[in-house]
Amino acid sequence: MEIIIQPTAENATSVAALIIARLLRQKPDAVLGLATGSSPLLLYRKLIALHLDWSRVTTFNLDEYLGLPPDHPQSYRHFMELHLFQQINLDPRNIHMPDGMAQDVPEYCARYEHQIRAAGGIDLQVLGIGTEGHIGFNEPTSSLASRTRIKTLTPQTRQDNARFFGSEAQVPHHCLTMGIGTIMDARANLLLAFGNSKARAIAGAVEGPVTSLNPASVLQMHPTVKVCLDSEAASLLQKSDYYRWVWDHKPDWQQLPSLP
Ligand code: F6R
Repeated sequence: MEIIIQPTAENATSVAALIIARLLRQKPDAVLGLATGSSPLLLYRKLIALHLDWSRVTTFNLDEYLGLPPDHPQSYRHFMELHLFQQINLDPRNIHMPDGMAQDVPEYCARYEHQIRAAGGIDLQVLGIGTEGHIGFNEPTSSLASRTRIKTLTPQTRQDNARFFGSEAQVPHHCLTMGIGTIMDARANLLLAFGNSKARAIAGAVEGPVTSLNPASVLQMHPTVKVCLDSEAASLLQKSDYYRWVWDHKPDWQQLPSLP
């Protein structure tokens, strides 16, 4: 795991944007895994501002609320259209998101997994983290080998996400989410976390034991993970001085190229 601690969410997001921009330049037909929620919002704004060529890119989103149609204002499909898809030249045929209205859920989820494999697998998966450590909507005690499936949201997640809905009562109880095994199959993962509310989950994910009680901790077993944090989200890390030193003293060949 590479832990990149920056003073602010803005700075940390700039690093994440550079990583994605570099990938799209090196591999114009890259397959990107995308997330929704507060954490990647600024990332999407920065990527839009870079005017990258998305014409050959394929995307797969992590998750969707079950029961919400794509045009529902709180659906993740609507979120992605609003905050990214409508502002870049991504081919709509290359966009993949779990369908919250899927009828035969097991068959649908198996098809989603098949689509990821048929696209050649995910080159880089963007992740946020829940306050209890979920990635995608893989809540604590999710199987670390799980694939795309239905999950039941925890009371904590429904409370955390109530800010996007009028009230907690309106937050769906179920979702479709890529599994932890699906996320672990991505060739690289890029985890974003900002603010004090994420500090405990990040400390567990980065420095705690690998446990399904903090699903993000499984990323310790993945060979290529970058974790972009602001200083608040990093505040409970025991080795933060070391992570900062590593970042400040990277050999030249490991430096991220600056953007034009
Ligand atoms: C969203 C997703 C979730 C969020 C997580 C953090 O697609 O998969 O895991 O990344 O709940 O949400 P925010 O960024 O809103 O704090």
